Amino acid sequence: MRSHYCGQLNAGLVDQVVELCGWVHRRRDHGGVIFIDLRDREGLAQVVFDPDRPDPFRIADSVRNEFVVRVTGKVRRRPAGTVNPNLPTGEVEVLGHDIEILNRAQTPPFQLDDEFVHDDVRLRYRYVDLRRPVMQQNLKLRSHACRILREYLHGHGFLEIETPVLTKATPEGARDYLVPSRTHPGQFFALPQSPQLFKQLLMMSGMDRYYQVARCFRDEDLRADRQPEFTQLDIEVSFMDENGLIGLMEEMIRQLFKQAVNVDLPAQFPRMSYTDAVTRYGTDRPDLRNPLQLVEVADLMANVEFKVFADAARAPGGRVVGLRLPKGGELTRKEIDDYTAFVGQHGARGLAYIKVNDAGTGRAGLQSPILKFLPDDVIAALMQRTHAETGDVVFFGAGKARVVNDSIGALRNKLAHDRGLLQGEWAPVWVLDFPMFEYNEDQKRWDPLHHPFTAPRVNSIEELEANPGVSLSRAYDLVLNGTELGGGSIRIHRPEMQKAVFGLLGIGPEEAEEKFGFLIKALDFGCPPHGGIAFGLDRLVMLMAGMSSIRDVIAFPKTQTASCLLTSAPSPAGEPQLKELGIRIAKAPTPAA
Ligand code: AMO
Ligand code: AMP
Repeated sequence: MRSHYCGQLNAGLVDQVVELCGWVHRRRDHGGVIFIDLRDREGLAQVVFDPDRPDPFRIADSVRNEFVVRVTGKVRRRPAGTVNPNLPTGEVEVLGHDIEILNRAQTPPFQLDDEFVHDDVRLRYRYVDLRRPVMQQNLKLRSHACRILREYLHGHGFLEIETPVLTKATPEGARDYLVPSRTHPGQFFALPQSPQLFKQLLMMSGMDRYYQVARCFRDEDLRADRQPEFTQLDIEVSFMDENGLIGLMEEMIRQLFKQAVNVDLPAQFPRMSYTDAVTRYGTDRPDLRNPLQLVEVADLMANVEFKVFADAARAPGGRVVGLRLPKGGELTRKEIDDYTAFVGQHGARGLAYIKVNDAGTGRAGLQSPILKFLPDDVIAALMQRTHAETGDVVFFGAGKARVVNDSIGALRNKLAHDRGLLQGEWAPVWVLDFPMFEYNEDQKRWDPLHHPFTAPRVNSIEELEANPGVSLSRAYDLVLNGTELGGGSIRIHRPEMQKAVFGLLGIGPEEAEEKFGFLIKALDFGCPPHGGIAFGLDRLVMLMAGMSSIRDVIAFPKTQTASCLLTSAPSPAGEPQLKELGIRIAKAPTPAA
């Protein structure tokens, strides 16, 4: 039906007759001449109808926004002074010879270029929302990115293999989505939180190198970078250690950025230990564009009069840190109060600070509600340790390490954004040397930091069991600009070690057999050393597209409450269907928000 996409028109086509199909983006009446901006996936073209051709003119006059039309006309240069340098097709326009209305459209629920449309409205009319040029760009980028990744992986000998979606629970730390079985009444499938177990089985099957663009399902609290169903680029390899895999993956990400968005990532991504990341940035996914760092000051505070600080400094599991904000002395009282409220949202009880009016005059040059509690030598040491200079402010956080890390880590990010401190555009970093386990105070047991199939650094079970708290794992995460892009590990490939790790995690032999019996058995039948990684494809594309939510790179995403406004899913099931499944609803369903 067409000869060109609207967005393809350029001066090289002048005097050619073209046929275009698309949506009426805008129609303007300029003193007897009708201008139609015609839009398709590739861009906008300006079509002009003049009254010399009365029939098409009349039709052009009658079209409204979002009508679907087909236009025939001759490309010509725009008259001098009307060239639009902001539009790729802005040098030319089409003199319309003919126009056919293929379909009429109701007035759209929102103007495509209106920035202030409620998200719910966008999602309810997602098919209109997706017509916006930015959304078309995002989905094109996503498709392009997938293709580049697939080509890279095929070039390196990977096989694309699908794994089941109706399956058994995979432990990735979220709740499962369950699917009732009709043929096995009272029994349920779980949708995969990841293909983890199957990809390991594929290594045991001798597939050697596997990948999958895999849909994963996790019933967890949603955030801007979390959806209940999302896509992983899931990867597993045999006979390769962590350095081999990290190298292969790093090159893949570098090529992806170069080919998809023409960004040169560093020739070597920096690597950092988990402990280093948490100590300096309060998080295991640090944004390295941000120069601010947490500075340990517990030793200086251990004996001060200010109990909040002294107690945290002395308590096991306590932490006291300083965070210097260069030129932060200019912050107003109100701004500091707002930051105090902000850290409060992350659990902090307060936010102490010292403003440095003059770094050369000791106590006299400083301004702070906590100075009265601190002796001169401590003040001097604090200033020195944090490298505070005249005009700065130094913030302090004290309390349980987790609360201090969360709150001051978040403050570090917020300060950098508020004050424009980010340096450079792209800062990837591998985080390594994760602890194997994390103690769960509430449940009084060890939890895996990654998942229960991750191999420990140590080779002997005795060594692991003697000191689970200090054991490191063979896991790695790739972090980009403060977003966790991907994570993986070398796996346990010996059945005894897998059983020992289950044991440490409080998963008894019976439970292990019931949940993962098939995996433990498979380990007995010739399992190669193997490992892998999974990247959040949505997050990768979000960052490349410069978006702030993965919703902007997913065609049909869910809301904050995990519902689909377009299709009204989830929705109640009919009585006959429930009966067939042997299910009775105990509580009346609440309508989705
Ligand atoms: P993990 O749980 O770290 O590892 O997930 C891998 C990557 O998937 C992305 N991701 C998400 N993206 C959007 N919405 C979510 N709810 C969501 N959850 C995770 C993140 C994350 O880095 N099986 C292991 C991988 C392995 O060991 O090979 C796994 O799933 O970008
Ligand atoms: P107070 O004596 O409770 O008024 O606290 C004095 C200063 O210490 C105030 O600026 C508080 O915001 C700050 N503060 C209180 N608790 C903490 C904490 N746990 N960490 C950091 N600063 C705190």
